[in-house]
Amino acid sequence: MNHLIYIYLLCICAIIIAIRFMASPQTAALGAKISIFAMLLAIASDFVPVPQNVIYLASTIFFGAAVGILLGLKVKITSLPQMVALLNGLGGAAVVCIAVGDAHIFSSALVLGSVVGTVTFSGSVVAFCKLQGFLSKPDFRFLNPIILNVLFLCLTAYFAFMFYRHFDIVYFWALIFSSLLWGIFLVFPVGGADMPIIISILNAFSGWNSVAIGFAQQNILLITVGSIIGLGGIILAQIMIRATNSSLLKLFTSHKDLSSSSANHLQTAKSINTRDAAFILKNADKIIIVPGFGMAAASAQHALKNMSDLLRNKFSADVKYAIHPVAGRMPGHMNVLLAEANVDYDQVFELEDINREFSETDVAYVIGANDITNPEALSNPASPLYGMSILDVSKAKTIIFIKRSLGSGYSGVDNPLFFAPNTFMLYGDAKKVTEEIDKFLEQ
Ligand code: TAP
Repeated sequence: MNHLIYIYLLCICAIIIAIRFMASPQTAALGAKISIFAMLLAIASDFVPVPQNVIYLASTIFFGAAVGILLGLKVKITSLPQMVALLNGLGGAAVVCIAVGDAHIFSSALVLGSVVGTVTFSGSVVAFCKLQGFLSKPDFRFLNPIILNVLFLCLTAYFAFMFYRHFDIVYFWALIFSSLLWGIFLVFPVGGADMPIIISILNAFSGWNSVAIGFAQQNILLITVGSIIGLGGIILAQIMIRATNSSLLKLFTSHKDLSSSSANHLQTAKSINTRDAAFILKNADKIIIVPGFGMAAASAQHALKNMSDLLRNKFSADVKYAIHPVAGRMPGHMNVLLAEANVDYDQVFELEDINREFSETDVAYVIGANDITNPEALSNPASPLYGMSILDVSKAKTIIFIKRSLGSGYSGVDNPLFFAPNTFMLYGDAKKVTEEIDKFLEQ
């Protein structure tokens, strides 16, 4: 045990340092390497002292690592939210497995860990299926979410009490089963723009259930790292809730209708070609680039960096990047891609720091972004996006939208900005279009 404490302390310090390093794009890669080291150390601690079932333990770890490495190598960047959902669920399932093994003694930490772990598992599986497109718009409107949640809370508390009172394993399994249903019903009605928030909340849950099981097992590594994950997930969820002007209560109780929208395709949008777009950009003094999911899907970040360098160095334009907190499909999605393309971090601004600059901007270059610019988020209470902060691109003198069609984004609603008098649609793949513009700028 004494030796283990030292290993645990080393792991905890490494994880804290890794997170600190991840706060800046310059040191993030080193942070990732330190966290891999901490993870390996934590796994190695399972062999101190060498357990009797060492072969069994080593082979399961080997199998898990092989699956993890394969998944990590194969997963596309656009599918990362699903991957995160799945990993959260596995964290929950692991905790439940430990709890099942320890259910011969009653402990409130164990019961709490089992409930949160099971809710995390089933909720994450539902989130994964929704993000993967396996589940589409289930309609639970006949069930009041508040009543449903209170019902499951009472049911779970009842089974926990009965397990404590009679110490009958049947009540433990009933507890697991009701938590399983609770997780499903909790996440099922959440949709549209709220999915990233629920993923962060499930991530926080996976941390808190580790804390509970850490108390049951008196394992300080689980308690400390679980607390970091739990708090990190909550802080992230809070940032996104604020960015989308939502609330925890709204998240779990409102059914957003993704089909309602006031825009219609009978209006005509003006379109331009890449030569005209390059001409407009050449003559602009101030340009703000607004990247979104389409930039990630097309991997257009390198062409975009080339374009902004040309505009800055050859045409002396002031070029900045504006990042919405939920642009793309995962927190920090745009920042990661821009950092990968070596975009200078001084040119990248968060929504609250840049929004007021659009009114003095010549061109807003909106590349593969849609929902995060939709003005209905501010003006139409019937829109599923209503209440979300947006990047105020409509205030720019000219808006160039780079996308393949007039189609909607993640939330499934139309964007009236496509038909605004100062908007030009530039249809095509984000990377191809930007590369063509680069060629015109180079000439
Ligand atoms: P979206 O609103 O999803 O719009 C992306 C647009 O990119 C689409 O309208 C699509 O239009 C276009 N596009 C796709 N592939 C393209 C390509 N190869 N080339 C050019 N354009 C392409 O994206 P957004 O503005 O970034 O907003 C993010 C949305 O995702 C929000 O609703 C947010 O709540 C949600 N969400 C965010 C997260 C996080 S944490 N960031 C996680 C899950 C969900 P075309 O089909 O016409 O090309």
